[in-house]
Amino acid sequence: MFGAVQLGVLAACVVVLVPMALAGWHLSRNKVLFFSGALFISLAVTVHLSPYFPSLTDFFPTVSTSSSSSSALVVLENRDSCLAHLHRIKWKNNHVSNLNLTSTWKWVLSDKNVLACDFQKLGRNDAGDLLNGSWVMVVGDSQARLFVVALLNLMLFEEEMVGVRGDLFKRHSDYHLVVDRVGLKLDFIWAPYVNNLTHLVMELNRNHSFPDVLVMGSGLWHMLHVNNSTHYDASLQLLSRSMMPLLVGKSQPHLFWLGMPTLINSMLNTEEKREKMTSAAQFAYDLGLRGSKLLRPGGPFVLLDIKSLTENCGESCTVDGMHYDGVVYEAAVHIMLNALLIQSQQKL
Ligand SMILES: *[C@@H]1O[C@H](CO)[C@@H](O)[C@H](O)[C@H]1NC(C)=O
Ligand SMILES: *[C@@H]1O[C@H](CO)[C@@H](O)[C@H](O)[C@H]1NC(C)=O
Ligand SMILES: *[C@@H]1O[C@H](CO)[C@@H](O)[C@H](O)[C@H]1NC(C)=O
Ligand SMILES: *[C@@H]1O[C@H](CO)[C@@H](O)[C@H](O)[C@H]1NC(C)=O
Ligand SMILES: *[C@@H]1O[C@H](CO)[C@@H](O)[C@H](O)[C@H]1NC(C)=O
Ligand SMILES: *[C@@H]1O[C@H](CO)[C@@H](O)[C@H](O)[C@H]1NC(C)=O
Repeated sequence: MFGAVQLGVLAACVVVLVPMALAGWHLSRNKVLFFSGALFISLAVTVHLSPYFPSLTDFFPTVSTSSSSSSALVVLENRDSCLAHLHRIKWKNNHVSNLNLTSTWKWVLSDKNVLACDFQKLGRNDAGDLLNGSWVMVVGDSQARLFVVALLNLMLFEEEMVGVRGDLFKRHSDYHLVVDRVGLKLDFIWAPYVNNLTHLVMELNRNHSFPDVLVMGSGLWHMLHVNNSTHYDASLQLLSRSMMPLLVGKSQPHLFWLGMPTLINSMLNTEEKREKMTSAAQFAYDLGLRGSKLLRPGGPFVLLDIKSLTENCGESCTVDGMHYDGVVYEAAVHIMLNALLIQSQQKL
């Protein structure tokens, strides 16, 4: 006869192994099982098994039952809802000296949900395992470029990064990189306006070839050079429509929307920016995005909420009120990787 613990472990194994195997199929174009070694052990065990050993009720206060097999289902449901808690991050500004502030971040572990979700800052090897065999495409403006830098900072060794920085920061240009060591293909596409995103998506549709992970976002250039939130709304609607073929295809990419940063008007470095990029404009553009049906739950994109990350990191994390320190984009990268873990385990 099985005791509750054995049943729980058995259920947990099914819950862990089946989705883990499938996860490799969804994220990886080459159908390579990328959960290997360290990541499998650290994430599979900590995410799925550890709740069975300490008191279950510490993690799932709403679960009063002692039946572990039904609790295994709770784990999955719980993982789904974890997407909503990914941005529960707190910042700390460390004064190294008067002139040098460095900020650090961590998930708010005093929040029970965050604790139960067991988010992890992935190391280089785990990130490599997760993205092994994947094609990642990042499309947008300088915010997207900073996001790419943060992603590569995590994936590459310092000496590999040196060449990358120079090439990536050629202004207003695309950038392509294949990291053989990890089997990662990365494309950065310079696309400052929403209609540039739309064209790109239409090209992907025409090619019938989609990346595994697609990160995009746009708004700052439109706010500055077009200054018309109604027009922005309309262009988001067009983008939303262009996404349709991509969403019904066999291999749907994991989609992330890179939100706009919090703009600190007084710190913006030109008169034109200070005039156009007001809090009213930010509000209107944000409203347009929320109403566009691009973001979950109504739409396909998981929001990487740069607005809240930058707002919480604060003024000390930016010199021009628009481009923030690397640490902000690093947090966004870790949020995306954790979302990928959650999503790929769910898609059964
Ligand atoms: C600020 O401090 C960090 C961490 O100690 C250091 O790596 C960095 O070089 C310093 N930056 C400046 C401008 O002094
Ligand atoms: C990526 O996958 C390939 C093929 O399965 C494997 O040879 C390689 O070691 C993996 N690399 C990493 C960093 O996991
Ligand atoms: C983006 O769209 C703008 C406005 O339609 C256009 O002028 C520009 O050439 C496009 N840029 C790229 C990189 O496609
Ligand atoms: C579409 O396919 C063409 C031809 O293979 C290729 O050059 C282009 O980069 C592809 N576009 C995208 C966005 O992947
Ligand atoms: C930008 O648009 C707003 C809203 O239409 C308008 O009130 C404002 O005058 C415009 N600003 C500039 C500098 O054109
Ligand atoms: C803003 O864009 C909308 C939609 O394209 C257009 O109808 C309207 O005339 C534009 N407003 C201004 C002030 O240009």
